Amino acid sequence: MPIEDEIKKLRAEIDRHNQLYHSDDHPEITDAEFDALYARLKKLEENLEANENSPTMKVGSKPSKGFEKHDHLKPMLSLSNVFNYEEFEKFEERIIKRINNKDITYSIEPKFDGIGISLTYDNGNLTRAVTRGDGITGEIVTENVKTIKKIPLKIEKEAPKIIELRGEIFFRLKDFEKINKNLEESGNKKFVSPRNAAAGTLRNLDLEIVQKRPLDVFFYGLGGHSEDFMAKSQKEFLNFLKLNDFPTNELITFGDKKHVKISVEDILNSRENLNYEIDGAVVKVNDFNHQNKLGFVSKAPRWAIAWKFPASEKYSKVTNILFSVGRTGIVTPYATIESVLISGANISNVTLHN
Ligand code: IVH
Repeated sequence: MPIEDEIKKLRAEIDRHNQLYHSDDHPEITDAEFDALYARLKKLEENLEANENSPTMKVGSKPSKGFEKHDHLKPMLSLSNVFNYEEFEKFEERIIKRINNKDITYSIEPKFDGIGISLTYDNGNLTRAVTRGDGITGEIVTENVKTIKKIPLKIEKEAPKIIELRGEIFFRLKDFEKINKNLEESGNKKFVSPRNAAAGTLRNLDLEIVQKRPLDVFFYGLGGHSEDFMAKSQKEFLNFLKLNDFPTNELITFGDKKHVKISVEDILNSRENLNYEIDGAVVKVNDFNHQNKLGFVSKAPRWAIAWKFPASEKYSKVTNILFSVGRTGIVTPYATIESVLISGANISNVTLHN
């Protein structure tokens, strides 16, 4: 296929999967499959001029109908990926070149597999909770977010005039299982993953349903703020969050490049035992001055990277191979397997469409 045609096809395909993932909460492919399509498109676009309509230049998907929209003070961006230490080293080399300093401290954090949220506090009071949306404009979901009792309605200590606090909304695996069990018992469609359940709940228009589901949250990011906010690094920012009782994650550590390697491995090893889903680690330059100097490239900061983990895998035994006939007459083979618990879901059927 000519390169231009493949690019066109990939862009359309990625746009469609973005819509399915971000707006419809019903993905058709795994994150790893999506990453592969995305990487292929990035590679093909390497020698072309930037095209602002390409999904590689856009963040997420447009906000959906139903909630009022609001612009973020500071855009909510995405992260570039690395998959191994060599790629991380290249990321660090680029940083060292730009800021002319070899002693860089990083924060290493789990990459929570939930839904990004931005909370605005005006004179210390929670006034708005907004989803990421297209990165510039999101949906106002304040009432739904306020059902999370852990979220302080007021910043009591050292509150600046205005500040956006960013975090991730998610479900613990046990809670996800309960929600799906209830949905099944009442004859409704189940969610495919805890992340989709969180997305579907956060953007649910029925507050009564949201109240019944125990959404949870971790905070990890600073958005826009007034000049009176004093934190000078991610570490100081996290201390500010803790001081004010915002839920933060206990696996976040700080250190140099060597520490990054150890800490990412620690996070990967703890993955199995966590009661919530993560899909990688996020490594951030700690110093805010350094972050500002590094800035952004298209939709992602130069000072942070997502270190993606492979999709969770489990072994099981195939017990039967069957065929299902779709509405349009298409026949798809699938296997039944001995049931295994993976990412909070009991899997007993797997598609063989590939
Ligand atoms: S920092 C510009 N830290 O991952 C900085 N993001 O792919 C970007 N995420 O939209 C955000 N855990 O929803 C950051 N510890 C963490 C994170 C994290 C999960 C999500 C977040 C973001 C997406 C980027």
